[in-house]
Amino acid sequence: MSCLPNDLIIAIDGPVAAGKTTAARLLAQRLGYCHIESGAMYRALAWKALKHKVDLSNPSTLVSLLAQTELKLRSTSEGFRVVVDGEDVTDVLRSPKTQAAASILSVHPDVRKELVQRQRELGAQGGVVMDGRDIGTVVFPRAAVKFYLTASLDERGGRRYRESPQELGTLERTLEEVESRDRRDMERAASPLKPAPDAIFIDTTHLDPEGVVRQMEEHIHRKFKDRHDFSLA
Ligand code: DC
Repeated sequence: MSCLPNDLIIAIDGPVAAGKTTAARLLAQRLGYCHIESGAMYRALAWKALKHKVDLSNPSTLVSLLAQTELKLRSTSEGFRVVVDGEDVTDVLRSPKTQAAASILSVHPDVRKELVQRQRELGAQGGVVMDGRDIGTVVFPRAAVKFYLTASLDERGGRRYRESPQELGTLERTLEEVESRDRRDMERAASPLKPAPDAIFIDTTHLDPEGVVRQMEEHIHRKFKDRHDFSLA
């Protein structure tokens, strides 16, 4: 992909366990871009809110908590790291409890406004692959390339269950949990999860991460192979 500019913004959105983050990380590595996992920012705030027993339904308390939070995201060769107030919390942010709390607090428009602002600052220079729920629709609506990843509910539930079987209990409960997160993420009034009109759909149900990234690269290659007049996001 020799003619690919080095400062594009690539947006990847989709529901829980569609394979966004793994694909985003791999794609960023291949392109020499930075990977930003926006869900980690919601989970970081959720982790701190749970730690301080802050009411997840109270947006103003959450916004002041966020204002007092130093949130650093690092895209390293070993993966994406999240540091909150000097503590590396990357691994604890993956717990089902923190993920569910992130989905709950992400319904508040004021919380989203603050986090979207931080995401825009992080991606402003381009050369990024950012994954989340509203990257192609709200955070960077003019992103050069947008993907929407999806997979069947059974497949996504299975993936989620295999990540944390102990904490999730049973596959049936995990499927219910994934369905309820889908509902909350897609039905909230503020920036609901939905594909951008110009997003490329990839169904990852029967694909491994390598297969997903291959499709993404093919699309990017087709789009940029003869172009010298692209516009940046
Ligand atoms: O990507 P994830 O599953 O770790 O995200 C956790 C929650 O954060 C998700 O259920 C909804 C919210 N989120 C969001 O509303 N917007 C984003 N761009 C990323 C995540």
